[in-house]
Amino acid sequence: MITSFGVFVPIIMGRGASYRTGLKVRELGCKKVMVVYDKGLKELGITDVILDNLHNAGVETISFDGVVPDPPDTIVEAAAALAKKEGIDGIVAVGGGSAIDSAKGINVLMNNEPPIMKYFGIQKNLKKGVPMVFIPTTSGTGSEVTNMCVISCTSMGNKDSVVSPVCVGSLAILDPELTIGLPPKLTAATGIDALAHAVEAITGGQANPLSDALAREAIRIIAKWLPVAYRDGKNIEAREYMILASTYAGMAFTNALVHLGHCIAHALGASFHIPHGIACAVTLPEVIEYTSKTEFKKVRMICECLGVDVSEEATAEAIGETARKALRSLIKSLDIPNIKELGITLEDAQKLAPKITADSGMALAPYRITTAGVAEIIKHAFDA
Ligand SMILES: [Fe+2]
Repeated sequence: MITSFGVFVPIIMGRGASYRTGLKVRELGCKKVMVVYDKGLKELGITDVILDNLHNAGVETISFDGVVPDPPDTIVEAAAALAKKEGIDGIVAVGGGSAIDSAKGINVLMNNEPPIMKYFGIQKNLKKGVPMVFIPTTSGTGSEVTNMCVISCTSMGNKDSVVSPVCVGSLAILDPELTIGLPPKLTAATGIDALAHAVEAITGGQANPLSDALAREAIRIIAKWLPVAYRDGKNIEAREYMILASTYAGMAFTNALVHLGHCIAHALGASFHIPHGIACAVTLPEVIEYTSKTEFKKVRMICECLGVDVSEEATAEAIGETARKALRSLIKSLDIPNIKELGITLEDAQKLAPKITADSGMALAPYRITTAGVAEIIKHAFDA
């Protein structure tokens, strides 16, 4: 089999790495940047430190503090209009996936006419934007190392993504100290999102040697350190490992993409407005059990990375069951609710099965699954 893979974004990492922001932005040749974040981050004092750092390096800034979850096209288009009016020559995004995706959306529109929905899908010929520096403050989305941004389309009421080199950052700065203040629930949800990226990348139809290596290490780290970070948010070692695992998982899925778990998560998220990481968590164990029918060697790897023994003679079915139990136990240890506990009825959740099977992400599921099969997975996960 011929395969291709690569890692696109240079990274600097370490405690206090964000203090290099001004220096690095100047090295990229930027003189006036738009700093993209949400108001909550400003209240935590994180953005002021970054802004000061940029000013001390002689970089002028324009703030855009209007980032909201699931960035809507209208907000991204308004921010892009401001960026163009101000004549910025760089973008710095500070925050979770929504801030980074907003920055990418703004960059798409720097030299390509709005609306952004015109550019949904794989785009190879967009005009270049400006250098972008991403500073994540959560450990989960991996958006800092991917080549796509997810945008909510207000007129259609759905989410879609732009996949393009214009969405690739010039630099990611991973500073675990910025994730110290992340509350336990967000730590758990974002951490499971990273785990979902890793286990879906490793079992999907586009897995390759690089994505497998990155995903395996991400799973090992998350299994060991996510429960620690959840229980003790101030544990800097756990935070350091988790920001690394999130980036590894992001690199794995930008190479191999994700499949059924994320198709289910997107449908649940859009219909019931539950956080992305929670939506990923609720059926992840059952999804990986389903993949074991054909990908049992990969699922065996997942078990090993989770620290669970699987006998040499184990059948594909037994390997799948072992992985399901281990993943469920990890998710439960983080107090993440199941579908029933989220207040969703089984009937309402199963109604999404046709939409899930029609999702383009299903192309990378390891083998064809019917709408009835998806409904069955939802049933098994419902009150697990
Ligand atoms: Fe995700």
